[in-house]
Amino acid sequence: QPVRLADYRPPAYLIDEVFLDFALEPSATRVKARLSVRRNGEHAEPLILDGEGLTTLSVAIDGAPHAYDESPEHLTLAGLPATFTLETEVEIDPAANTALMGLYISGGRFCTQCEAEGFRRITWFLDRPDVLARYTVRMEADRSFQRLLANGNLIETGELPGGRHYAVWNDPFPKPAYLFALVAGELDELADQFVTMTGRTIDLRVYVDPGMAPRAAYAMDSLKRAMKWDEEAFGREYDLDLFMIVAVRDFNFGAMENKGLNIFNSALLLADAETATDVDYERIESVVAHEYFHNWTGDRITCRDWFQLCLKEGLTVFRDQSFSADMRGEAVQRIKDVKALRARQFPEDAGPLAHPVRPSSYIKIDNFYTATIYEKGSEVIRMLKTLLGAQAFRAGMDLYFERHDGEATTVEAFIQCFADASGRDLTDFFGWYEQAGTPTVTVGQRWDAEAGTLELSLSQTTAPTPGQSAKTALPLPFAFGLLDEDGTALRETEVAVLDGAELTIVVDGLDRRPILSPLRGFSAPVNLVSDIAPKDRYVLLAADADLFNRWEAGQGLARDLILARAAGRPDEVAEERYAEAVGRALADQAAEPAFKALILALPTEPDLAMAMSPADPAAIHEARDALRARLAVHLGDDLRRLHTGLADGGPFSPDAASAGRRALRNAVLTLLAVDGHAENVDLAIRHFEIAANMTDAIGGLDALIELGGASAETAIAAFHKRWKAEPLVLDKWFAAQARDASDEALGRILALTAHPDFDGRTPNRLRALVSTFANLNPARFHDPSGDGYRFVADQIIATDAVNPMTAARLVETLGGWRRYTPQLGALMKAQLERIVAVEGLSKNVFELASKALA
Ligand code: ARG
Ligand code: ZN
Repeated sequence: QPVRLADYRPPAYLIDEVFLDFALEPSATRVKARLSVRRNGEHAEPLILDGEGLTTLSVAIDGAPHAYDESPEHLTLAGLPATFTLETEVEIDPAANTALMGLYISGGRFCTQCEAEGFRRITWFLDRPDVLARYTVRMEADRSFQRLLANGNLIETGELPGGRHYAVWNDPFPKPAYLFALVAGELDELADQFVTMTGRTIDLRVYVDPGMAPRAAYAMDSLKRAMKWDEEAFGREYDLDLFMIVAVRDFNFGAMENKGLNIFNSALLLADAETATDVDYERIESVVAHEYFHNWTGDRITCRDWFQLCLKEGLTVFRDQSFSADMRGEAVQRIKDVKALRARQFPEDAGPLAHPVRPSSYIKIDNFYTATIYEKGSEVIRMLKTLLGAQAFRAGMDLYFERHDGEATTVEAFIQCFADASGRDLTDFFGWYEQAGTPTVTVGQRWDAEAGTLELSLSQTTAPTPGQSAKTALPLPFAFGLLDEDGTALRETEVAVLDGAELTIVVDGLDRRPILSPLRGFSAPVNLVSDIAPKDRYVLLAADADLFNRWEAGQGLARDLILARAAGRPDEVAEERYAEAVGRALADQAAEPAFKALILALPTEPDLAMAMSPADPAAIHEARDALRARLAVHLGDDLRRLHTGLADGGPFSPDAASAGRRALRNAVLTLLAVDGHAENVDLAIRHFEIAANMTDAIGGLDALIELGGASAETAIAAFHKRWKAEPLVLDKWFAAQARDASDEALGRILALTAHPDFDGRTPNRLRALVSTFANLNPARFHDPSGDGYRFVADQIIATDAVNPMTAARLVETLGGWRRYTPQLGALMKAQLERIVAVEGLSKNVFELASKALA
């Protein structure tokens, strides 16, 4: 029963105007809808409306009751005029809505989530993104639901008998149903204003749990910076007179771009020094920007159908990454984005759930809010910009906004704008949207000292993915530079285009042997295989002008050392050499602390697992810790001195430079925590005890947990005591324990589900424990007993009964079973089989688990 892109048909009817009237009651909300409907084509076809879990009370056409046919998911009406008014009334039960799609209750407040197909849980509708309507929304509720919010502009409010009140909102911009939002409840308000580039004053409001307004200040500040940036970088001005953000506690994902009324998971909105880490601040800044940027790339121009999801998501991620790069530094941002891509998207693209950036079929669209659509989708836009140049790229974006404003459109139409603006043929480039799998690019070098020429031979291949056995070569930008052995630049960055299976590049006029700095800035989302010798990679690590490649060179050296050890061939001399090089990088006065923190972190275990076949997580964990230990011992005194030198006593500031110093200080501690030397234990205890902000507190807690023993127990208990009343901080407490990789940790982690503060129905709490465990604790997730897998499968099954979407997100952690040793793979597979055998399993979990087994 999959939905296919090839089957797309325009809707038989369009809806121009929507009037909704909500009588809000937690367990019995009445929704009246009045829709102005118009036939969209020659013939009078039946009107088939979508709905889910609705109790239909009445249906009328042009004021008169009309016959209808009702099935669990559709309401069908026949014998309709060319234009008419449809009125329906339904009853729904928000209090019983544990799936958190449609209208539900979180923390005693009404809120909604309609993307992708949640609006049909509110009223009968054409719940598809190519039906754009203007909405007027009236809602009434008991006065204890103090604030009544919806999209657009507030038109009217008033009191009603019986202690009730009402509000009417109107959104002048036509929008698809997935952008509808409504919130009702007691909320504190943080108010501000923004003056746009044309001098219009916009009212800004952030609504949060009572007492939390001070913690919304950073989100508000981020919003204003994002609004300004979008004007400068893309010429985009905000359109309504009011922009609102609401933070809710129970939310299936990060945040949602509803027109004029963004709704956020409170974890991505609330922050202060005491309760939020620098990583939280960074994510708040980027997600606030992301949702705001959707106002143009998503809301004003939306998707024709859900296959086009990357049209808004890949593009908007690209926009938020560009914003973050401007706010926080380009190289550091790029490294973090590539790390995330490799951690989440590369495994997806290499496993049974691989799909193109624009998929061609799905069972549940909710399962396609993936790293491929978001992160690889952004990489594709980034390549487009690199290939066309910044100016032509901007011209293409301008044309897109001009040509498609107010439309629900396609990826083809988007790419056509760049072809038209640049005069380039982008037919082959479109392959990036249609072909799944990460290409492998191999670069070989031939140095002719006599002639002074370097010949580079590039080639690309992509392994088959499910349903796509034949692959073609995709055009990709290959940025590179050349250095000499002293690190002096011989050639600045140049961008070659590998537009077929092979390409030969000849650089001449070289008077010394050059060292290649390949794929600078990670100019394409590929796996690179090169013949660059370790001694040359040390030169890159020390001196490449491209900071991304400096980091990449260090990672490559570390990866090879760890994999050699994991394979039983440790090279101690090379390890010492690596430790010395890291020591020199740390001593580099010119480098930023944030960058050094990244240099200091060894490749992650999942990253290493991708490079080992079959992957043996225990061997990787042990080998990685051995290299960490070598660094910690070799550089011990320097690291401890650095840690002391970075201590800052001043008031907390979340700015990038201060965050960078904290990141380095905590990276130093993380490294030292592998070595239970008494000095390190003391340092970790002090770090934790005097922590004046959450970044340091978590850094200290992590280190103490790794060091183990009584001080770990004390720290865990003290942290809980201090923060038990703060849900967002308690999430971090669960997550820190879920990351404990020590041999005896598994039993303790599993027991946390019985902790009185654990509640698997709150997605944030569930993710803190279970997603953290499955994604960030590979040593214990892949415990040889198989108990880690069983635990995750248990949680998937239990969660599926209440919240299928959140349950489905955990399935991918078991999906890579073929990449692991046969014993582990069999244990993972057995859990997937157990999941698909569950009676009454949701489509969401079924689709992913069955694909993972196929
Ligand atoms: N559009 C939202 C965002 O990326 C995410 C919505 C997720 N929806 C879903 N069904 N998974 O900003
Ligand atoms: Zn988005």
